[in-house]
Amino acid sequence: MTQQVTLRTLISKEQIAERVGAIGQSISQDFASEPVILLGVLKGAAIFLADLTRQIALETTFDFISVSSYGNQKQHSGEVRLVKDVDESLEGRNVVLVEDILDTGLTLTYLKNLLLARRPKRLAIAVLLDKTSRRIQPVAVDYIGFGIPDEFVVGYGMDFAERYRNLQDICIVESSPEGV
Ligand code: IMP
Ligand code: MG
Repeated sequence: MTQQVTLRTLISKEQIAERVGAIGQSISQDFASEPVILLGVLKGAAIFLADLTRQIALETTFDFISVSSYGNQKQHSGEVRLVKDVDESLEGRNVVLVEDILDTGLTLTYLKNLLLARRPKRLAIAVLLDKTSRRIQPVAVDYIGFGIPDEFVVGYGMDFAERYRNLQDICIVESSPEGV
């Protein structure tokens, strides 16, 4: 299959670094000397988490969870399934859920309910990107990197058919192969 994909930079690596630094500072202040566990949603949030954890001046550990949503890459079916759970108990702990994109809100709503049932001391949510106009399920988040328009983006962990996760900038996919 020939892929005619054009990428246009939406957010540069310098802009990302500045925002991630600011979010790290806010988390450090908000949790006032208490330990936190960052919980990254695989795979998209892995790079965001890797940078964020190094900007937090607290005792910090991290873990990952994985979910799969039925539907194709661009269309959410509304049904979410847990594929990989956390390795440790979250009871009584300060948890920061780290996600790449808040889109329809269905994934984060599912995860929020799942994690609250584990009775953490506090659950906060950090998302790098927020596509406000796409929301189906409202969900309150504590830290947002950037609000973005309704465009499909890749880079800095985010993929298009598993590609482009390694781009340093966040880019808009301007054209895609037929049928995707
Ligand atoms: P939602 O909020 O439940 O619709 O799901 C958000 C998830 O959809 C994110 O974690 C991403 O994995 C994926 N997603 C949404 N928009 C994009 C995009 O523009 N590029 C890459 N992944 C996306
Ligand atoms: Mg994701």
